[in-house]
Amino acid sequence: MSSIRYATTEDIDAIATVHVKSWQAAYQHIFPKSFLDTLSHEQRRRSWENAMHQPQEKAGIFVAENEAGEIIGFASCGINRQQEKYPDFTGELFAIYLLSSEWGKGIGEKLFYAVVEHLKKNQLYSMIIWALAENPACSFYEKLGGIVSGEDEITIDNNQYKEVAYGWETIVSPA
Ligand SMILES: CC(C)(COP(=O)(O)OP(=O)(O)OC[C@H]1O[C@@H](n2cnc3c(N)ncnc32)[C@H](O)[C@@H]1OP(=O)(O)O)[C@@H](O)C(=O)NCCC(=O)NCCS
Repeated sequence: MSSIRYATTEDIDAIATVHVKSWQAAYQHIFPKSFLDTLSHEQRRRSWENAMHQPQEKAGIFVAENEAGEIIGFASCGINRQQEKYPDFTGELFAIYLLSSEWGKGIGEKLFYAVVEHLKKNQLYSMIIWALAENPACSFYEKLGGIVSGEDEITIDNNQYKEVAYGWETIVSPA
């Protein structure tokens, strides 16, 4: 059984590892291998260190642990970064990533609802999330009630990719 808890600074290294590995697995059919091979654990570690030591207002970072206490996934959330453009959504799920060996076991859903609880506790009652249009994770957001609420283009490694926003006008805890 996996469990979800708030991340601590001691988790930074493990979060960075999951981040890189999950990107390399999830995006192997989307981004060029040459780009995925260059993803740097050190760079991710620094950015998570920053997020953890200088947290933004209402931000939350969660980790999923397996029975052995190893970090197998994480999620982070906070205030919608584009509230002016998407005013229907006050909160945002910034990132949710699991090691590929853990996909499809219900752990993503647990992390998702930990984020929902955190946002509600912080008076953020709606939520947006951005995903690459080609990412199978879009089905995950649809399954959890997300409605397509926006589109954008993102440049990664000099290539353009379509992004889709999923929105929840009211976030609710599971029944
Ligand atoms: C996206 C992710 C966090 C989902 O977590 P997960 O633990 O695999 O998903 P769950 O097992 O909790 O699935 C919850 C529901 O969504 C559905 N779902 C999840 N991933 C899906 C997929 N790729 N395709 C279709 N349905 C999917 C499940 O079938 C399940 O519905 P069910 O209860 O009817 O079976 C995880 O697969 C992951 O880390 N993927 C790679 C990284 C990534 O793409 N992150 C998102 C970036 S925007």
